[in-house]
Amino acid sequence: MTGPSLLISAAIPGWEPGMVPRGFDCTITEQGVMEGSEFLANAFDKDVIACFLANKITDEFMQSHPRLKMVANIAVGFDNVDVSAATRRGILVSNTPGVLDAATADLAFALLLSAARRIPQARQYFLEGKWKSFSLDFFTGSDVFGKTLGIVGLGRIGQAMAARAGGFSMPILYTQRRPASPEVEQRLRARYVSLDQLLAQSDFVSLHCPLTEETKGLIDAACFEKMKTSAYLINTARGAIVNQCDLVAALRANRIGGAALDVFEKEPCVPPADLAMLSNVVLVPHIGSATIDTRKAMARLALSAVSSAFAGVQPPNLVNPEVWPVFRDRLSAAEC
Ligand code: DGY
Repeated sequence: MTGPSLLISAAIPGWEPGMVPRGFDCTITEQGVMEGSEFLANAFDKDVIACFLANKITDEFMQSHPRLKMVANIAVGFDNVDVSAATRRGILVSNTPGVLDAATADLAFALLLSAARRIPQARQYFLEGKWKSFSLDFFTGSDVFGKTLGIVGLGRIGQAMAARAGGFSMPILYTQRRPASPEVEQRLRARYVSLDQLLAQSDFVSLHCPLTEETKGLIDAACFEKMKTSAYLINTARGAIVNQCDLVAALRANRIGGAALDVFEKEPCVPPADLAMLSNVVLVPHIGSATIDTRKAMARLALSAVSSAFAGVQPPNLVNPEVWPVFRDRLSAAEC
């Protein structure tokens, strides 16, 4: 008898065959992320799919893949999975919290510095052979040291971002549904404020909240009106948290100082033309967690959730733990 079938739809940097959970009949793509009809066909007879953001696991998908018992998303965000449909269908969903906090915060801070000091623009200018003279206002940017950082969502990644800002003596403001614990506030010297206060007082606004119905379009024209005209928006969370049209309008009108974006409303994409033509933006293609060690750690965490679930031990990183008893019963019934 063969073991449960597993599709790993994304090639894993530093992949070693020993990473396949023991006893599983595994199919893994060798390059990139398996998508479209290839993904549908390969996923068809699988008990488990370990997938990445490009794979949209919709209710319809689940309906047409009746064997599916678990979706192990190799990402901390899981807006590519219809979790309520999965829950209704008794399908477990897991994600990869924790292991990508440092890499994502590193990128967010790198974007903040790049935007403030206009590093990509200066590089481009230099490479184009345009540097012919000095002047006191040559590529002048914004100070970072001692400036106020506003963090929307002080979860694990938001906290890692605050820790980096500590090295630059930046006062930290944060907002989210409820205040963080006093221990977190003291350690990070972070002050809880309303979104409006955060927008009005921050020199840099960095987004670290998940994309939910509540946060979709959260940062819109009204928010840009409340920000300092010198302030920068940094987004390494999800593109749809920001109303991209409103952002373009605010940038065009110099209503804010600039923006640095790792994420976009629709992905993958070519650089949105209206953003790419602006001189006060820094754009990178969703690389927040893209370090070799982090991507390996994400894959390991996803696969360890799979092996643990099929060994009858509840993984700690389930997004819908309420499905666990249903899954366990299905597993024991299959074993009888
Ligand atoms: C995530 O994990 O949600 C990132 O956006 C991709 O690594």
